[in-house]
Amino acid sequence: MNGKLLIAMPKGRLYDPAAALLGRAGVVIANKGTQSRVLVLEDSEHRYQFVTLKPIDIPVYVESGVIDAGIVGTDILRELESDVNEPLDLQIGKCRLSVAAPDGRAVSYQQNISVATKYPHTASKFFATRNAHVHIVRLEGSVEIAPLLGLADVIVDLVETGRTLRENGMSILEDIAQVSAKLIVNRTSMKMKSGAINELISNLDRVVYASS
Ligand code: PRP
Repeated sequence: MNGKLLIAMPKGRLYDPAAALLGRAGVVIANKGTQSRVLVLEDSEHRYQFVTLKPIDIPVYVESGVIDAGIVGTDILRELESDVNEPLDLQIGKCRLSVAAPDGRAVSYQQNISVATKYPHTASKFFATRNAHVHIVRLEGSVEIAPLLGLADVIVDLVETGRTLRENGMSILEDIAQVSAKLIVNRTSMKMKSGAINELISNLDRVVYASS
């Protein structure tokens, strides 16, 4: 687009903590108002440009080089196995990726079980390590409802506070991974725009370190 770094921000629950972290690092994304349809925003110092994307799309754009850098959870990086640089764990968006089932339901990995999840690749790999035979049912959201309605035996999903599981009578069987958000950078941008990238990394690193 131009010489400025183009950075992808995640839509959804990670947006506010990511924007707050950038703000503490001196990068304040201009607010165009809730009615605005402007897709590309700048920071107040006009050093960077920002687009806001669905988290699942961010590694795709960054790997391609169309976007230089982005903020995205390790749940999605693990699912897509994207070939990007991951220079900094931002210590936000912390949660767990877990296997969960309705309370009292006997679940045996030795029997065929169906697994509802937004993370089919991660779930398949995980259950392969358990020598379990699973049928993956890919869903896009509200995954907890699937076992309650009989679509699946278990789910693989994010657990942050545990409230969604609790309020739907479900419990964690085991954790697959700890999740947090990372700064990711395109491999070519890392070399060709190293000055701007390294400045961003060190400014973010300072505030991440200060709040840890
Ligand atoms: C996520 C996740 C769980 C919930 C966990 O869903 O998929 O449903 O949050 O959070 P908790 O442990 O604090 O209750 P999200 O709200 O992002 O929406 P989704 O179900 O549509 O994916």
